[in-house]
Amino acid sequence: MNFDISLNREKKNILQLMVLLFGVTFLFAQKQYASFKPGAIWEDTDGIHINAHGGGITIVGDTYYWFGEHKVAGGRGNQSWVGVGVYFSKDLYNWKNEGIALPMKKDSTSMLIEGSVVERPKVIFNKKTGKYVMWFHHELKGQGYDAALTGVAVSNDVTGPYEYISSFRINPGVWPQNLDAESLKEMVPITGREDPNRKEKVKAGAFIKRDLEIGQMSRDMTLFVDDDGTAYHITASEENETLLISKLSDDYLSLSGDYVRVFPGGRNEAPAIFKNDGKYYMITSGLTGWAPNPARSAVADNMFGPWKSLGNPVRGTEEEKKTTFKSQSTFIFPVIGEKNAFVFMADRWNPQNAIDGRYVWLPIEFEDDKPIIKWDPEWDLSFFNTKK
Ligand code: GAL
Repeated sequence: MNFDISLNREKKNILQLMVLLFGVTFLFAQKQYASFKPGAIWEDTDGIHINAHGGGITIVGDTYYWFGEHKVAGGRGNQSWVGVGVYFSKDLYNWKNEGIALPMKKDSTSMLIEGSVVERPKVIFNKKTGKYVMWFHHELKGQGYDAALTGVAVSNDVTGPYEYISSFRINPGVWPQNLDAESLKEMVPITGREDPNRKEKVKAGAFIKRDLEIGQMSRDMTLFVDDDGTAYHITASEENETLLISKLSDDYLSLSGDYVRVFPGGRNEAPAIFKNDGKYYMITSGLTGWAPNPARSAVADNMFGPWKSLGNPVRGTEEEKKTTFKSQSTFIFPVIGEKNAFVFMADRWNPQNAIDGRYVWLPIEFEDDKPIIKWDPEWDLSFFNTKK
């Protein structure tokens, strides 16, 4: 008899504990963000710091999809062991993990083998084919950053799985539209870093000439789709000295062969593009690896330029201008349903513990038709309403 009562009590205790645990889980699951806190830990709806570095946003209907590099802990996290992750959100604050959209391969015959480097993935939707197309920067396993390839993958569903197509150098055998091959006929190749004429030769297109047959280098990159559906691949090329903007083919799966050089010898990285009131804007970083540096901005009437430099878009303290709020640009996207409302996405890298990299999201403002960025430790989308 006594034994029964104690068993019941035990059952009751277990039940109470379960209710408590359920309550606590529920409370945590309910935790919702209603603002952005740039640079802070940003948890997904499972309570785990979002793992989508060097990312980009794809808008489908009323939903945002955030693609990015899924990093692992430590310095090892600077190589890709898992793949490209994807999250979704309807409000931009709260993100649900949708898993790995493009997994790294175990198969050693695949270029996409784990331990190679996949960076800055961007995804666009092709209306004609009904497919989602992902492009990324790809470096081959064990070769540091020497390969300088861009990779492509495709999927019927936005969250994947994406089928890897291939990785390659860009525009082999084709001269850029804005470079006259004749003018380089007599040029002696750059002899190395110490070549006293290196700067002039770079500007004149020596690396384009060097890589003409094998294809141009492609490292930090982004994609941009124009209102008419024309898509562009924008990348740091020519040993990171010059940006190349290339038109994609109609199905977005390859390059069309039409491309231009932008800011030859300007050493721009981390390009992010947006269009507002018919003008194209670009924000980039300088070239200091994982360490932050001053951002740059530019404007053009056409994607193929000419691009005009607008200087550092950061407004704030000297330190903020010098380090772009300790971050490096990765993407700029429009807020659904708003006019003139764009969010600047940047990474605060942590190469010692890659998984702990932080996200710096700030609103783009305009000052004399120039896009500018100011620090705000906490902000929300009502920012854009108060600016109207
Ligand atoms: C940065 C670049 C990153 C990554 C890093 C490696 O300049 O923007 O995406 O490639 O260099 O050092």
